[in-house]
Amino acid sequence: MILIIDFGSQYNQLIARRVREYHVYCQIEPPNIDTDYIRTLNPEGIILSGGPSSIYEKESPKADKGIFDLGIPILGICYGMQFMVDALGGTVKGAGKREYGFAELIINKNKGLFKDIDKKTKCWMSHGDSVASLPEGFEITASTENTDIAAIVHQERNLYGLQFHPEVEHTPEGKTMLANFLSDVCGCRPEWTMASFAKDSIAEIRETVQDKKVILGLSGGVDSSVTALLIHKAIGKSLTCIFVDNGLLRKDEGEKLKKTLTRHLDINIRFVNAEDAFLKALAGVTDPEKKRKIIGKIFMDVFEDEAGKIKDAEFLAQGTLYPDVIESVSAFGGPTAVIKSHHNVGGLPEKMKLQLVEPLKYLFKDEVRVLGEEIGLEEELVWRQPFPGPGLAIRVIGEITKERLSVLREADAVLLEEIKASGYYRQLWQSFAVLLPIKSVGVMGDQRTYENIVAIRAVTSKDAMTADWARLPYDLLSNISNRIINEVRGVNRVVYDISSKPPSTIEWE
Ligand code: XMP
Repeated sequence: MILIIDFGSQYNQLIARRVREYHVYCQIEPPNIDTDYIRTLNPEGIILSGGPSSIYEKESPKADKGIFDLGIPILGICYGMQFMVDALGGTVKGAGKREYGFAELIINKNKGLFKDIDKKTKCWMSHGDSVASLPEGFEITASTENTDIAAIVHQERNLYGLQFHPEVEHTPEGKTMLANFLSDVCGCRPEWTMASFAKDSIAEIRETVQDKKVILGLSGGVDSSVTALLIHKAIGKSLTCIFVDNGLLRKDEGEKLKKTLTRHLDINIRFVNAEDAFLKALAGVTDPEKKRKIIGKIFMDVFEDEAGKIKDAEFLAQGTLYPDVIESVSAFGGPTAVIKSHHNVGGLPEKMKLQLVEPLKYLFKDEVRVLGEEIGLEEELVWRQPFPGPGLAIRVIGEITKERLSVLREADAVLLEEIKASGYYRQLWQSFAVLLPIKSVGVMGDQRTYENIVAIRAVTSKDAMTADWARLPYDLLSNISNRIINEVRGVNRVVYDISSKPPSTIEWE
């Protein structure tokens, strides 16, 4: 296991990704992590991440210097290296100007982290301060034109430092450097696989839950579905899933989910039809944030009501993912690591005195998909595009009525059918239809029409933080448009959204 100490770098999750890609388990912890706790974790190596602070700022995050006496190999990256140097008696100076971008790295010796790497290679720099003098026992292993001390090592103590970022794609040999650290320096074996994760996780759930009852809110998305299946494998019928049909779902979604999840599994699912309650509360509401608040509140009421019927439940399971768990340290606010509650069921655990079970809380989204495949979840669920909690309510722009929802549902079904048939579904982060609150004039046969406009949104993205509109082939767009206008009553115009995020967002509301 590798421990990553997070000094607030925008790249800290990327470091974790790289370690896991090498099939080694890792965990990110804040700088104030207790050294005794580190001992109990017994990591094979520690990585100190970069961060936005300067080591000489009063409030800059620092870890306990005791970590250097644990006898565990340590790699400091950027700020992490500066922290190591400062803690061990070297000096760090302000560079005057930031060095940002590519630099040519000149390597002294092709050993240690630089084994199997050419003596000249590119690296990605992003720093203000630099190491000015080394602590005792350290030597320089690489430099760049601007930075004499770009890489350092204390051979006997297994302490390494890199001023540049090996975790980003822009450092082409970065993966090899990290792999060298993991294998040669730390002696890690690439044994962490989804099969082993699933096995350990099932055993852990069994041990935690024992013969108690667990409740899970099932949304039909990949995270809650994988959570359900994993827990079901661990405790079978002691798990009860609650699926709330809010009337804002895509066409046949509830039915499809029921079929898919119950096909092979003897899994307890309670389907609650709460369409009327949601639509009644949403009547006349047009403000997107008000819609969200109402939906969140009704969901809580319905869920709580249903969960209350399950007597003696002691646990609430959630599909929380790793990015939700890691709250990066802020430069001046001090180190924090906060676990966020899923917005849908926030508050319920305390109210019902439930303990949380979050078996996915150390996984990234794509790892959850691999896990889903590993434990036999149907492909359709594993590869489902994300769908927002408020559902079609934020895709019917303006007022929500049953009729408008139905128009959108039909248009969206056509769109998805075409996207799936074309083979684009998996390449897109999301693809969906939006119903606009304006009408336009058209002509059908000899008749003038005055009807709805549907916008198509299809985006590529890695994490929804940024997104680009998908360059779908014109012929595909043409098929979608023709089919929607011909098959969906009440639509006479289809437009394609060509905005990226930022400055737009993925959803229209
Ligand atoms: P935006 O529109 O902010 O969306 O670019 C980013 C991602 O978040 C989803 N989204 C939501 N998910 N509740 C959710 O559970 C919401 O209120 C919500 N709003 C947006 C959106 O579908 C996209 O994947």
